[in-house]
Amino acid sequence: MMNMGPILGIETSCDETAAAVVTDKGTVLANVLDSQIDVHAMYGGVVPELASRRHIETIESIVRLAMTEAQVPYQALQAIAVTHGPGLAGALLVGVNFGKALAYALQIPLLAVNHLKGHLASTWVEQPDFPRSSIMLVVSGGHTHLFFATRTGQYQLIGKTIDDAAGEAFDKGAKMLGLTYPGGPLIDRLSRTGSAKAVHFPRPYLNRGGLDFSFSGLKTSLLYYLRDLKKNDHVMPAIEDVAASYQEAIVDVLVEKSFRAVRKYGAKGIAVVGGVAANSRLRERIIERAQKLGIFVAMPALSLCTDNAVMIAAAGWEQFRSGVIATWDLDTEVGQAAVTNLQTHSVQTIA
Ligand code: KG4
Ligand code: ZN
Repeated sequence: MMNMGPILGIETSCDETAAAVVTDKGTVLANVLDSQIDVHAMYGGVVPELASRRHIETIESIVRLAMTEAQVPYQALQAIAVTHGPGLAGALLVGVNFGKALAYALQIPLLAVNHLKGHLASTWVEQPDFPRSSIMLVVSGGHTHLFFATRTGQYQLIGKTIDDAAGEAFDKGAKMLGLTYPGGPLIDRLSRTGSAKAVHFPRPYLNRGGLDFSFSGLKTSLLYYLRDLKKNDHVMPAIEDVAASYQEAIVDVLVEKSFRAVRKYGAKGIAVVGGVAANSRLRERIIERAQKLGIFVAMPALSLCTDNAVMIAAAGWEQFRSGVIATWDLDTEVGQAAVTNLQTHSVQTIA
């Protein structure tokens, strides 16, 4: 078979400018990333316009760095895969247009990758043998979605949050506790020395909503809990205890619903991807339950959990192999459609 060049992946959907080079065998030749956390921290969340502007400033150097690290000439690239949604429209446009211009100049195929499909694909980067017919939980700052990955390579959306994403619950809870943005990793760290039983927080939607999630009520309970402490002049328990109890409420619901899905679909494995998959308590609980059931478990390394371009190049390879190539009028795709239509995302199939 003819030797195939690697795919360059580009990701700019939120607050990370990322580029990666991945071969057809799945070898990662380069993985470069510029995190914008410093830009947004003082605002307590991502400011869309600032995100777009920083992407504009850094994208060329990030891509150049990835190509230098990979030691691959531009002419050797097989295709360029770029995230085109869901995400912040202005941020996505930077990556889409850069990728489009580069692919056009090189006259190679442009691949439009759905960001969630990228997160899902990260599973197979490290574990090529992870079985299909598995339940996959995507948990990040923007998403809490349960998919059933079918035997034929399709993803079926079987549950989702009806309000906040789990990462949002972590970040907003952390903000209430006076922690800096993004608070998820800080809650994780504090919780390691705290007691999860110190404060009782509700497990929202645990016994309703089928496989859907809801986290906005939990955030409100933390708000009321802190307000009542203040009102009644009670001393705040150790922040480690509050963090651990709050984290446990989020993790409980994520684990319970995921394993209900495993049972319902007779799944062979469970995978957790997205930024919140970096949470150590969630990882511990998922591994424990999966081992008890004797099913496969996959949770990518921390660097592959949070937004990155390796996952975009990996999903790009899947699309390239099935001949799903974007046209030069490729636009961004945001909103609900971008989440539910993982298979049919505004691209044309050509031979
Ligand atoms: O996937 P990601 O990098 O970006 C989105 O697409 O949203 O996820 C970022 C989210 C943030 O909400 C962050 O607080 C959360 O993932 N996160 C964590 C941890 N590491 C990142 N949440 C809990 N525990 C962690 N260790
Ligand atoms: Zn993400």
